[in-house]
Amino acid sequence: MNTMTTTTTTTVLDASDVTMRFGGLTAVRSVSLTVNSGEIVGLIGPNGAGKTTFFNCLTGLYVPTEGKVSYKGTVLPPKPHLVTQAGIARTFQNIRLFANMTVLENVLVGRHTRTKEGLWSALLRGPGFKRAEKESKERAMELLEFTGLAAKADHLARNLPYGEQRKLEIARALASEPGLLLLDEPTAGMNPQETRAAEELIFAIRDMGIAVLVIEHDMRFIFNLCDRVACLVQGEKLVEGTPEVVQSDERVIAAYLGTPFEGAPGADELAEVEAAEAAAPSTNSRTEEAQ
Ligand SMILES: Nc1ncnc2c1ncn2[C@@H]1O[C@H](COP(=O)(O)OP(=O)(O)OP(=O)(O)O)[C@@H](O)[C@H]1O
Ligand SMILES: [Mg+2]
Repeated sequence: MNTMTTTTTTTVLDASDVTMRFGGLTAVRSVSLTVNSGEIVGLIGPNGAGKTTFFNCLTGLYVPTEGKVSYKGTVLPPKPHLVTQAGIARTFQNIRLFANMTVLENVLVGRHTRTKEGLWSALLRGPGFKRAEKESKERAMELLEFTGLAAKADHLARNLPYGEQRKLEIARALASEPGLLLLDEPTAGMNPQETRAAEELIFAIRDMGIAVLVIEHDMRFIFNLCDRVACLVQGEKLVEGTPEVVQSDERVIAAYLGTPFEGAPGADELAEVEAAEAAAPSTNSRTEEAQ
């Protein structure tokens, strides 16, 4: 957190009473949440709690049935590209990279909203366009250095191991120069070392002056990383507070542990997964293109 006495905390994200209904199903019910400058806020909750749906409401992918989302005091229009332009970037639970483009090209795509060069300039490839292109490339390479992917700039995204694909998604999100970064399960599929590295990366992003809102199921990761944590259960915000408060809240514990472990794999399923892993090639095969 910022120790400079001159710095005042400002509200970066202000979501108030956001409700999202799909037909008869209320996936998110009257959820309010703020993220302040300098903060890393966590969003937890069991599968199907409405976490991703809430993100989709924040980023204009869904138009909330009710409620309002403001970024730095301005109400956001529910259009993804306008939300990105305003300063909110995100990554996806199911990785969305351009699998057949290089690592560098993927980051350049993320810079698109920040380059001011217009269509004619791009078509004529005039001096303004060339300068902007050069600057974009330099910035993209800086971000690849920052995320530890610079050596793989020319690799195709689909050839990266899974953990690096997640990092590339973060680099691409940062390329739009956001003031708020939303991460949907950034460590899913990562091994413990990669998870530790992701934690350091997110701290570094916060230190760059970017506020972070992160969804994760890995509680150790969340409670270590976040200044504040909110827990969603069945679309409603059950508890919000410091990691200490949330992790000892009985309702949160009950929400995770009190119900039968429906999602827990049985012995048969475990054996099946192990067999599949043994048979699979060691290179990544999990790239999921835009869905
Ligand atoms: N486009 C949609 N149409 C209909 N129902 C949807 C849609 N998107 C999500 N839902 C439903 O909304 C509920 C919340 O889903 P959501 O994906 O937001 O949960 P989540 O908390 O992100 O879960 P997980 O931890 O498994 O990712 C679920 O019941 C889901 O089936
Ligand atoms: Mg989700």
